[in-house]
Amino acid sequence: MNIHSGTIQATDDPEVLGTEPIPARYYYDPEWFELERKAIWMRSWLNIGHVCELPEPGSFVRREIEFAHASLLIVRGKDGEIRALHNACTHRGTQLTSEPCGKQSKFSCPYHMWTFGTDGELISAPDFERFYTSKESCALKQVSVDVCGGLIFVSFEPQESLREFLGPMADMLEQVASSQATTFHEYVYEIDANWKLDYDNFQENYHLRFIHPNTAQSGIGGENPFGYPSSFSLYGKHRTQTIWTNPEGEFTPTTGLAFQKSMPRLQADGLLDLPHPREYLALFPNFFMLCSPGNNFLHYVMPLSAGKSRGVIRIYWKGEDETASTRFAREYGMAITRDIHSEDVNVIQAGQRGLSSGAIEHIHFMEKEILCRHLIKVVEEAVEAYRKEIA
Ligand code: FES
Ligand SMILES: [Fe+2]
Repeated sequence: MNIHSGTIQATDDPEVLGTEPIPARYYYDPEWFELERKAIWMRSWLNIGHVCELPEPGSFVRREIEFAHASLLIVRGKDGEIRALHNACTHRGTQLTSEPCGKQSKFSCPYHMWTFGTDGELISAPDFERFYTSKESCALKQVSVDVCGGLIFVSFEPQESLREFLGPMADMLEQVASSQATTFHEYVYEIDANWKLDYDNFQENYHLRFIHPNTAQSGIGGENPFGYPSSFSLYGKHRTQTIWTNPEGEFTPTTGLAFQKSMPRLQADGLLDLPHPREYLALFPNFFMLCSPGNNFLHYVMPLSAGKSRGVIRIYWKGEDETASTRFAREYGMAITRDIHSEDVNVIQAGQRGLSSGAIEHIHFMEKEILCRHLIKVVEEAVEAYRKEIA
């Protein structure tokens, strides 16, 4: 294991984060969740989209951010700037649109027709002379937004710039295939599980041989029956692992065909030589990405409550599906992702039910679940710092 920065001393010791069990209440206690909400969720930078969704001035996407009780319109303004505007009319709060995405030159409130520009400024309002305020002071409220490697991040109460928050991860994000993406496949799911329990499922390979004996064949077996990663690295709040592949593993005929069909396209797009092809890159608190150019997969988990979350899974691509082969390879990539995920969902929810019963006081992470332990350590540090601040 490598440690690159942050409060932990550089070491190869797998026990550097300690060995103690973890309080189970972190996964269901509403009071703990409320501390996380204020200490982590309101303050972190969170990926909520990609610049390819905002190709032109006026392009927008709407994102519901439940932990902040917010609806955000992420808009590319006439000036080309990307802004995150609260979807809340400054007259009396009415949400301006319920469309998930679109392209508009302005946003008109349905209630009394106050109309806002793509930069959030109030352009016009009927009979405005009779109000006791100015148009300048009635612009839509904004949330901090910034872009790294094509990925759009927002933060409600940023403590630092996006660059400072990401640290060395920023360079990696700029080097991988999603920085060049023009399109993506997506699916969104809701799950009855705490965000950490859901997210941790994708930070450990211990479960692969039991839950995915068929779908994860190329990642388990031989000298590495559990398919543990070949290395782990900690970068302050963030972390990476290097995915191990069984050199003797065999693709199923369909997987092999999809792999073969995707190769010429990746070659033509100049993606095959990108760095970090085997890296799994995890950004605190809720995001991870597989940097493989052929499967540039990312997943983020948003909390809805202590015991409920929403996950967003995307695979980013460069260029449209111009041939049947590309279409097949991409669709198959998403189909296999959904298959693997469908195998995970039931055990994650069963875990939540067990935890929420209050029957156990602690859970355990072993040596190879160090990424899960690291997430908990960073969460504990953030909550502790917040508690001191408000004491
Ligand atoms: S609430 Fe939007 S115009 Fe009145
Ligand atoms: Fe899994």
